[in-house]
Amino acid sequence: MKRHHLLTQPVIPFVHTARSGELLVVTIDHPPVNALSEEVRRGLMAAMDQAEADSNVKGVLLLGAGRAFIAGADIREFGRPPMQPILPVVCNRIEACRKPVIAAIHGPALGGGLEVALAAHYRLAMPGAKLGLPEVQLGLLPGSGGTQRAPRVMGVEAAVNLMLSGRHMTAQEALTSQLVDRLGEGTDVLQAGLSYARELLANGAPVRRTRDLAAFKADHAHQMDVLEKIQKDVEKKSRALFSPLKVIEAVRAGLEMSFDEALANERTLFLQCIDSPQRAGLIHAFFAEREVLKVPEVKNVAPRPLASVGVVGGGTMGAGIAVSVLDAGLPVTMIERDDEALAKGRFNVEKVYNGLMAKGRMTAHAKAQLMARFSTSTHYDALAHADLVIEAVFEEMSVKKAVFAELDRVCKPNAVLATNTSYLDIHEIAASIARPQDVIGLHFFSPANIMKLLEIVVPEKASADVVATAFSLATQLKKMPVRAGVCDGFIGNRILAVYRAAADHMMEDGCSPYEIDAAMRDFGYPMGPFQVSDLAGGDIGWATRKRRASTRAPNARYVQIADRICERGWFGQKSGRGYYLYPDGARTGVPDPEVLQIIDTERIRANIKPSALPAEHIVRKYMAAMINEGANVVHQGIALRPLDVDVTFVHGYGFPRYRGGPMKYADMYGLERVLGDIQEFAKQDPLFWQPSPLLVKLVEDGKDFASLN
Ligand code: 3HC
Ligand code: NAI
Repeated sequence: MKRHHLLTQPVIPFVHTARSGELLVVTIDHPPVNALSEEVRRGLMAAMDQAEADSNVKGVLLLGAGRAFIAGADIREFGRPPMQPILPVVCNRIEACRKPVIAAIHGPALGGGLEVALAAHYRLAMPGAKLGLPEVQLGLLPGSGGTQRAPRVMGVEAAVNLMLSGRHMTAQEALTSQLVDRLGEGTDVLQAGLSYARELLANGAPVRRTRDLAAFKADHAHQMDVLEKIQKDVEKKSRALFSPLKVIEAVRAGLEMSFDEALANERTLFLQCIDSPQRAGLIHAFFAEREVLKVPEVKNVAPRPLASVGVVGGGTMGAGIAVSVLDAGLPVTMIERDDEALAKGRFNVEKVYNGLMAKGRMTAHAKAQLMARFSTSTHYDALAHADLVIEAVFEEMSVKKAVFAELDRVCKPNAVLATNTSYLDIHEIAASIARPQDVIGLHFFSPANIMKLLEIVVPEKASADVVATAFSLATQLKKMPVRAGVCDGFIGNRILAVYRAAADHMMEDGCSPYEIDAAMRDFGYPMGPFQVSDLAGGDIGWATRKRRASTRAPNARYVQIADRICERGWFGQKSGRGYYLYPDGARTGVPDPEVLQIIDTERIRANIKPSALPAEHIVRKYMAAMINEGANVVHQGIALRPLDVDVTFVHGYGFPRYRGGPMKYADMYGLERVLGDIQEFAKQDPLFWQPSPLLVKLVEDGKDFASLN
């Protein structure tokens, strides 16, 4: 909505009131998304007082200025002592108003924003409105009456599903589920709101308080059964998450208690969530995901035009990247070595869509429309008009350079030339052609059409608009971009190499891979490191280890167990066995006694007397290795800030989001403790366990990683 100017005077900053006939129009104007900060809450209280005090006012129209109704409580205030008036009080005040209050919703009405609307007596939603109670995504529950008012208007099951999924409803869905009473027409929320509110007043519509709706309590036994079923499902699916179960608890209490008792109970549960480390981790992730977009090159620099994309290589990554780009609505031209490889590349792309069709998630027509934007060639000239080309050929410098020479020859000036290399030196690739300023790394993760992370690897000579174009591509592909500097493995794989080595050390020292995997799953990972290795294919890591053998420090500890397993052709799921056995193509592995024997033999060869480690120690070592290398990566400017490391691990490596990321975890665990752990482990292997200078400095200064964000 345009910021309108039928104002009399502001009651308090961020909330304006103006008369329009018999209506008091209350506009929340707190850019960018009208979050319910302390001042906004005070403003709403004052506006309600004003409406009741003025006998000429017969009703109140509540709306948001700018692009949102209200995006929710002000997330920045969580973790600080609550300031009066708290939001539940504001919602009660709105509901208690003796004159009809009508909420007119456009854009997001989320969390506390929807709770404000639910406290109003009537609701209208404009097309394009997004309504939801996404608090669980922040480790919270709706804490301003949402757990009580939503079930009253839409029924217990629908309300609980809305809260547990955190999803956004469209205006039409909200109407169907009775969350709102009316759809607004046109694009002007003020006009639509005024017209609905006037109609209500003209018809003598009464004050209608959500708290008084009691129908949802009918069939009590059935509602309890529904909650029981949902709870079982949640316990299975959102393992270890705190707030979803609290949502159910709050709703269940609402079926048993009076409205006011249930509100008080909701508040207690909300405060438990606020105090939980999961809330801190999830809110850190929320802000980190927005901060990663803020990189120096992108400020005030326009991206280059981006209307067509070329992909070189149609293997695992090339095909996945092509699908991701096609899904974003852009045309793709794929280049391969020969017709056979090209046919395979096309097959790899189609396979993804055929899979979706088989699951009923795509129609033949939709597939045809997507494939119509896909073309292939064995001639590089087909890339002459591409705005951006992503190379995803074999991981070999000579092959990459040959491809870039071709791109340099055929691509138009100002085309962005990107490589998906995992480890190779992008400076060397850039220096091999005449336009190094156009070269950048776009490191996708497998499967590229699914995984959210995109490392944008910026070589020294890359021009700022090339970086801006890469970020703009990420937005179009709905990826989470993280800026990284050039080094072996960039942010993610470089840190991975170190904590994987720590896991290998522990395996040789006495833990089975199964124990390590279990410990890391209990920490919150969906899979342990050895399960991941089996899924990705052991051969990939093996090739990397062979390549690096010549540069490895001769006195560095090197565990050979993985090599022994690979030498037998056991590459993981695809070969039926790796660290685990996958009988008959099973997707979940079972422990393999022969692997344990190999490990035993290697321990003898390495002259190691095995001793078991408790799960707590496994986690401590694994995390210390990850955090220490994370600190190095920040120290050397490979990652701009600790939060870039966090986003990388949450979106590319399965790090539990509710822990915020490894650097946030380190802050919560305590940097002094991390350093103490490293010093303890260094007694056994001082070469491997060298404390990062950044970690040492932060501990000396009494600071944490957050101070660098
Ligand atoms: N509080 C404080 N700041 C917020 C905010 C909030 N609730 N929601 C968004 N912002 C900030 C963002 O951090 C960002 O700041 P920046 O520009 O400095 O980086 C800015 O607003 C714009 O946000 P987005 O970049 O995310 O803008 P989009 O247009 O892509 O998305 C949105 C808008 C859908 C509203 C999205 O921001 C969002 O999902 N926000 C969070 C909604 C939410 O979770 N609400 C529940 C809050 S908890 C609550 O209400 C508790 C209550 O029950 C008591
Ligand atoms: P792949 O072996 O599945 O595919 C490579 C493809 O490149 C093959 O189809 C091959 O025919 C083609 N190719 C080789 N030389 C070519 C040339 N000169 N011109 C045109 N096409 C050529 O390999 P994958 O796994 O897709 O990896 C590709 C790149 O992506 C590598 O650099 C790899 O390091 C990187 N990468 C791989 C990830 C993975 O998980 N597999 C993850 C992230 C990056």
